[in-house]
Amino acid sequence: MDITWLGHSAFLLEDSGTTLLIDPFLNGNPKAALSADDVNPDVILLTHGHEDHYGDTVDIAKRTGATVVAITEVAGEIGGKLGEDHQVFDPNMGGTVTFDWGWVKMTPAWHTGTTPDGTVHTPAGLLISFGGKVVYHLGDTALFSDLKLVAERGDPVDVAIIPIGGHYTMDRIDAAVAAEFVGARQVIPCHYGTFPPIETDPEIFKSDVENSTASEVIVLEPGGTHSA
Ligand code: NI
Ligand code: MN
Repeated sequence: MDITWLGHSAFLLEDSGTTLLIDPFLNGNPKAALSADDVNPDVILLTHGHEDHYGDTVDIAKRTGATVVAITEVAGEIGGKLGEDHQVFDPNMGGTVTFDWGWVKMTPAWHTGTTPDGTVHTPAGLLISFGGKVVYHLGDTALFSDLKLVAERGDPVDVAIIPIGGHYTMDRIDAAVAAEFVGARQVIPCHYGTFPPIETDPEIFKSDVENSTASEVIVLEPGGTHSA
């Protein structure tokens, strides 16, 4: 399975002709590796509805027909924009949606949530089974110990995608503890470097995590791909 960082919290997961797109904040993202017109997902998965995650979801879904998965209130808003014929799944916390390619589970994240149009909701992380791997995108979150509970519930996490930029999420120091809690084989940092308040050094995060855990940290540039 190929994991491509598109900048900020946006990732493409590709395997066997199926493409998942997470948190497609592309147009208006100064670090975006692709424009919203250049992605062709089968499914769009959202951690929450803040503008830097919701991004171009509606435009991309309209153009490609991609199925959308988002937490209940956000899914309701998006469903209203896409129309009744468009497939939008609306799980709530702890819920799993199953597809022919795998499944996605909504997990807790400590954060706030309001969409640009004002829909208040609870933000989530995404535990994803795809391409024979388990990927845990933590979403926007502070450090909390139940990250460990989520990660240890099922098959071991192959790849954890962890925000490290601070200010709007945990910083790289707390994120190193989160990496320890999750215990993934590999860790990809995100949600840093997009705007001045979330500048941080991912190489220090990498050395901190690799010195204190068995996880390997893969620091990508926007547009960079990791084969998991
Ligand atoms: Ni957020
Ligand atoms: Mn964010």
